[in-house]
Amino acid sequence: MEYISVAIDGPSGAGKSTVARAVAARMGYVYVDTGAMYRAIGLAVYRRGIAGEDTAGIIASLPTVDISLAYQDGMQHVLLNGEDVSEAIRTPEISQYASKVSAVPEVRRFLLDVQRDMAKNSNILMDGRDIGTVILPDAPVKIFLTASAKTRAERRYRELKEKGQQVTLEGVLADIQARDRQDTTRAVAPLRQADDAVLLDTSALDLEQSIAAVLRIIREKT
Ligand code: C5P
Repeated sequence: MEYISVAIDGPSGAGKSTVARAVAARMGYVYVDTGAMYRAIGLAVYRRGIAGEDTAGIIASLPTVDISLAYQDGMQHVLLNGEDVSEAIRTPEISQYASKVSAVPEVRRFLLDVQRDMAKNSNILMDGRDIGTVILPDAPVKIFLTASAKTRAERRYRELKEKGQQVTLEGVLADIQARDRQDTTRAVAPLRQADDAVLLDTSALDLEQSIAAVLRIIREKT
């Protein structure tokens, strides 16, 4: 049986995960948050005291890293060597580590097969930075979901505050701009819109409107 893949790419904080998770639930597709996999590698590297710039150290630690995804009540959980790190990977510090490790070609190769295999076994909705361009170039539906840096910073700030984290709006905006820079200028699999992806700017849309827009695009393309 041929399974359908929906690829959603875009910059940090565009609301990809929230929108993608909701759309996948409504369509009965498996949701795969590839950013969480890079974050788990970032966490592994951080815990070992390896600097984000230490490419050789990052590569050397890969053989001891096992990343898998588990699903419970429709939620994706990320397991790092069997430990559920779904919460631990969401701090600003690990966001930066994730961005740094994701620029290392060996790290991307490490995750490429895992991500492609997932698309072979079920209808999936996968979100990330290079899903439409590198991981699933033949996906029938590709969406580039974005929003202005200011809107993205405001959304992420509210989210982190609700979780009780000590952050400032300026700090969150600076973090988003730094990650945008790293993600779009890196040599391997930089963030860019695939030629055949539909551009969806959610700056002026709320969550329900964003979900409806994605569902509409999927319906048109499948
Ligand atoms: O999407 P999220 O913010 O959780 O991703 C964390 C980091 O992982 C991003 O800053 C990006 O550098 C990297 N990433 C990537 N390719 C993907 C998904 C995430 O390089 N497919």
